[in-house]
Amino acid sequence: MNDSLTGLSVTAGAMVAKGKGILAIDESFPSIKKRFDSIGIESNEENRRAYRELLIANPGAGDYISGMILFDETIRQATLDGVSFPEILSRQGILTGIKVDAGTSDHAGHPGEKVTEGLDGLRKRLLEYRQLGARFAKWRAVITIGADIPTNACIEANMHALARYAALCQESGLVPMVEPEVLMDGDNTIDRCYSVTRITLHTLFDMLYRQDVRCEHTILKVNMVVPGKLCPQQAGIDEVAAQTVQCLLDAVPASIPGVVFLSGGQSAELATAHLNAMNASCPSLPWPLSFSYGRALQAPCLKDWGGKKENVAKAQARLLHREKCNSLACLGRYTPEMEQAA
Ligand code: 13P
Repeated sequence: MNDSLTGLSVTAGAMVAKGKGILAIDESFPSIKKRFDSIGIESNEENRRAYRELLIANPGAGDYISGMILFDETIRQATLDGVSFPEILSRQGILTGIKVDAGTSDHAGHPGEKVTEGLDGLRKRLLEYRQLGARFAKWRAVITIGADIPTNACIEANMHALARYAALCQESGLVPMVEPEVLMDGDNTIDRCYSVTRITLHTLFDMLYRQDVRCEHTILKVNMVVPGKLCPQQAGIDEVAAQTVQCLLDAVPASIPGVVFLSGGQSAELATAHLNAMNASCPSLPWPLSFSYGRALQAPCLKDWGGKKENVAKAQARLLHREKCNSLACLGRYTPEMEQAA
């Protein structure tokens, strides 16, 4: 294996090291504004920097977190003392990741569906991110469930873009995290989520194969199989765990080094409980199952912080607690009583 391939193997393995997961803090400008609106603070550059410093420079995070996914603005920012964020992460043994998609647009000719943009100029941007310290990248495709959607056209367009992005990442020495997200916003049943997630994953791995993307240097980030938020029949923890594992076994090659989940709007504690149930009930899967949550890790911490300097330590402790609970969930050793203890 040549040096660059060894590098990709080491990075991919480190991203899903035993008992570790990923913190996603890559909210775009509109998304971080939404989060800041919820605590009544302005989304300006300094507030975003201060909040990201709290998340990035949290003592002890390296015990539970293998990587953090940053946004373009964040990878160029630094602590108040002037140390760059990628350097702070590196000192804690945490890999720097970078979101490289340019968000979603309406999919032409397909009402209600989205396609992710960002391939133009991507090769050049990836080289710059690598120089800034990134070791892995993320691209998110969004699949919406509705009456007559998703269409094959939407799934194929999005999975093709993911494969082209992944090939460019591997060429640039970055591990691609491929993220097809089947949204949980509708009123669909868990069975419908299963079938849409299944075809999405089969299409993704077919496209990766056709574009000569190496699975062994690719991390899958995906939704859990859950009913839509508006579905009258919600599912229990064990059912979500069983359906999610079954769907992955059906569609994900064994050569993938690891699978991480997004939280997608699940509460912090439920996202942890679901991950724990999968690992507790299925200890010997072909890949480690871990987390790459945004909201389910950050939400309690963001609330505690409230934009105030005097709350930083409390907010960091809250974040560390969630990181620890999810780390234990990767090992199937989390219990809900751990929440009371906190
Ligand atoms: P959530 O866990 O909040 O869904 O975010 C994860 C993510 O990175 C979405 O792209």
